[in-house]
Amino acid sequence: MKPVRLLLIVAAMVPAASAQLPSGASLHLTRPDAGSTVRLALSDPENHSYLIQSSPDLKTWSEVGTWKIYNGSFNRNLPLQAGGTLFYRASYDPTRVVPKDDVSLALLLPTPRGNYAAQTLPARFLVQPIVGQDNTPADNGVTDSGATLGRVLFYDKRLSFNQTISCASCHQQAHGFSDPARFSTGFNGGHTDRNSMGLANSRWYERGAFFWDERSATLEIQVLEPIQNSVEMGMTLPALVTRLSAEPFYATLFNDAFGSPEVTSGKISRALAQFVRSIISTRTKFDTGAANGFTNFTAQENQGRQLFNGAGNCNACHGSDNFVPGPAINNNGLENPYTDKGVGAITGRPQDEGLFKVGSLRNIALTAPYMHDGRFATLEEVVEFYNSGVVAHPNLSPPLRAGGPAGPPRRLNLTAQEKAALVAFLNTLTDTALSTDSRFSDPFNYGD
Ligand code: HEC
Ligand code: HEC
Repeated sequence: MKPVRLLLIVAAMVPAASAQLPSGASLHLTRPDAGSTVRLALSDPENHSYLIQSSPDLKTWSEVGTWKIYNGSFNRNLPLQAGGTLFYRASYDPTRVVPKDDVSLALLLPTPRGNYAAQTLPARFLVQPIVGQDNTPADNGVTDSGATLGRVLFYDKRLSFNQTISCASCHQQAHGFSDPARFSTGFNGGHTDRNSMGLANSRWYERGAFFWDERSATLEIQVLEPIQNSVEMGMTLPALVTRLSAEPFYATLFNDAFGSPEVTSGKISRALAQFVRSIISTRTKFDTGAANGFTNFTAQENQGRQLFNGAGNCNACHGSDNFVPGPAINNNGLENPYTDKGVGAITGRPQDEGLFKVGSLRNIALTAPYMHDGRFATLEEVVEFYNSGVVAHPNLSPPLRAGGPAGPPRRLNLTAQEKAALVAFLNTLTDTALSTDSRFSDPFNYGD
């Protein structure tokens, strides 16, 4: 086969002063395999439009198309001329008329919209204690169009100052909507000072509050915090409203969700909260077992289940089929003193040091690393901690003490086989149907 020559010329059809790519943009032409295509990858956080042209001889150019970038990047496989040479160029032209931005060009959304509002819940979710854990407010129930808007916002990098980070950068579907990095990287390269939290079943938490230290009283308040956080997304709400108002597809989505096209921070908050509450895990091996008496479990998984609810007493704080605490927030004795004082850092009270929220353990095998500071890389390390490593602390919660509420940290003295059984049980909480469900995936159109 003849060697293939590829050329990418970046030319601008605008006055010389602005004849450059927009800042942060880049173009790559690669030949992924020996086949008959080349791959043109455009990356541009500012989402401009580009004219793509091809030429057999660098003299006559014909238009391949005008591409609008919708969320930072666009890729397309282009044909190579058999036996010959074909040149491509991409031109950035801010004055060029682009294809009308609408929902169907920008987004790959199903029609009708996905079902978020009427998800089938197991019977166990319709009775106590789970109904009492539901933190959905009366004025922001999940609707299909509201959660759809929330999904688009969740994946949209426009929510960060320089349009490089979305909620999903730190809450990745394949990782239980958490981040495999111990600390997450924000829009400007800075790092969060805590581990990202998994989001499955955050709808159910009796205390209602959000973040490791419960500093947001509701999910509607919480979802606006990362947008304005100086490390995470670095935006202001007025700037975000202006930016989203400039995107025609958002007018349609806001209108569908709330009956009027105007973008407001109140609607952004409600839509994001609806999407997060709709991330529901009920399709695990555990759920099948809960309905059939755990006959689908291996002997090891059943032993782990019995330890979790029995000698391990894990269910004292990770209770119900959502594996969440009841009315208390707990200290599980990670260290003394705590570097990060959790609730105590907010209240300044010694009796609040080391109190941390723990959300649902559903999908826990996907959300490593563990604890507020991501100190444990594996579930084996977590189990060994509860077995032998709980530290004495004045605020240590009673279920982790031996011989009464003032006792020393308890030691479980589990055998290696018992520890493995506990881990096997935790692995039954993995919901691969959720981690691959297209209703919760990135909806933007990135080309091929
Ligand atoms: C740069 C990484 C990053 C980004 C971007 C980010 N988060 Fe988070 N998220 C975190 C971290 C870290 C925490 C825990 C922080 C803490 O507790 O102090 C968290 C906590 C949360 C929680 C609390 C969960 C619970 O059970 O209490 C929710 C909900 C959440 N994020 C949703 C979002 C949404 C919605 C967005 C986008 C608007 C977003 N996050 C953007 C890193 C990020
Ligand atoms: C007294 C209450 C309590 C008991 C009992 C308890 N835990 Fe926890 N658990 C917590 C708290 C609180 C956290 C979060 C602590 C932090 O991050 O500072 C936590 C965190 C975890 C995490 C990590 C969660 C995450 O998202 O990173 C796992 C896994 C876990 N516990 C499993 C267990 C197992 C297994 C047992 C039984 C052997 C157990 N827990 C017993 C309170 C408890």
